[in-house]
Amino acid sequence: MNKYNQNLLSLYIHWPYCESKCPYCDFNSHVNEKINEIEWIKSYKNQLLAMKEELIQNNINFRHLDTLFFGGGTPSLMPLKIVENIIDISKKIFGFKKNIEITLEANPSSYENKKFIKFKQIGINRISIGAQSLNNKYLKFLGRLHNIKDVKIALNDASEIFDNVSVDLIYAFHGQKIHDWTSELESFLNSSNLQHLSLYQLTIEEGTKFFKDHKNGIIKLIDNDKAAEFYNISNKVLSEFKFSKYEVSNYAKKGFKCKHNLNYWKSGNWIGVGPGAYGRLWSSNKHRNRIEYQNYKNPKTWLSKNLLQPKFEKITKLNTKVSDIDTLTMGLRLYEGLEISKINNLSVINFKSLCELQKKNIVTFKDDTLKINKKHMIKLNSILDYLINY
Ligand SMILES: C[S@@+](CC[C@H](N)C(=O)[O-])C[C@H]1O[C@@H](n2cnc3c(N)ncnc32)[C@H](O)[C@@H]1O
Ligand code: SF4
Repeated sequence: MNKYNQNLLSLYIHWPYCESKCPYCDFNSHVNEKINEIEWIKSYKNQLLAMKEELIQNNINFRHLDTLFFGGGTPSLMPLKIVENIIDISKKIFGFKKNIEITLEANPSSYENKKFIKFKQIGINRISIGAQSLNNKYLKFLGRLHNIKDVKIALNDASEIFDNVSVDLIYAFHGQKIHDWTSELESFLNSSNLQHLSLYQLTIEEGTKFFKDHKNGIIKLIDNDKAAEFYNISNKVLSEFKFSKYEVSNYAKKGFKCKHNLNYWKSGNWIGVGPGAYGRLWSSNKHRNRIEYQNYKNPKTWLSKNLLQPKFEKITKLNTKVSDIDTLTMGLRLYEGLEISKINNLSVINFKSLCELQKKNIVTFKDDTLKINKKHMIKLNSILDYLINY
């Protein structure tokens, strides 16, 4: 068994539907439509069975799923029967580790108390709520269907039902005042019982409504200095509330880091099932190659292609260079850094740049661990560009 097979094994399930499409979002999400539950369960099942075979082929221990993540789209809109079937089938096929983490993303607007309780009963033990903003004006700007009151109700109930609650927020956009943001964040943290928080600075993604608006001058971007100011002050507030930052956008109370995402950042093995989902496994050959399984993106195409027998859109052997670049770019997102022995061919690192970054105290390289020093994490992308021989 190779080194990577000692990592966690994760399963990602993609649900592609939402109540409406948010103007900033380039995820594979489509406005809700009528679906046939039996057909969806069948297609998920076919793919799960196919992936068990792939794990066996690649000599990966398949009898221990460490994490399962329902992402989207809006998986809280999924019919319970589908979620329940996926959990049961996965448990039968792979087996669950005793302390498996099972997360489901939920929107406050699709929130129903009864559904939360049911989700808990069928095995979900971590809920991630897409609050996105703590201000009604900005919730409107972000095209969200919920308001602050909905966020509060959803969070109160979620924390009564689940021991592990996470919230997603988007910040650092044009017109937002730093003082307003910090006071909203402080009063939110004072009044809620959370274990995990993801703070994303707004990015303008190609193909979204915001992209067009930006091109037409309707939406402006904030400059790098302002973005850094937002970033640093948010870190300060979160640490005052005993959240430790462990990744460029993620904060957790002690013992509540997201195990599923950690497995991505540490380049573990994961299976991706559902429209547009992709998975990556380390192949069993001597070279440290990875195999990527890519699913059909369009929900209807995915469903029909997988209904009778599993069918991936593409299965690619990633070469060593691609794998190494991925291991570096993902690993350096973590505050704890990356074990350099995970890199197969070190020529992917530009050592002249590395020495300069070390001299300037931007990165630290010690005892097999390379890490970006905390206060420079905001410049992650430009550091990666400088460090990596693409
Ligand atoms: C799969 S999405 C959302 C899950 C859920 N449907 C929701 O909207 O809450 C995961 C997260 O990515 C973040 N996100 C998506 N697009 C973004 C963008 N353009 N800029 C910053 N954050 C973004 C949002 O915080 C979102 O909660
Ligand atoms: S942000 Fe969430 S709710 Fe909005 S379109 Fe994207 S996946 Fe759907």
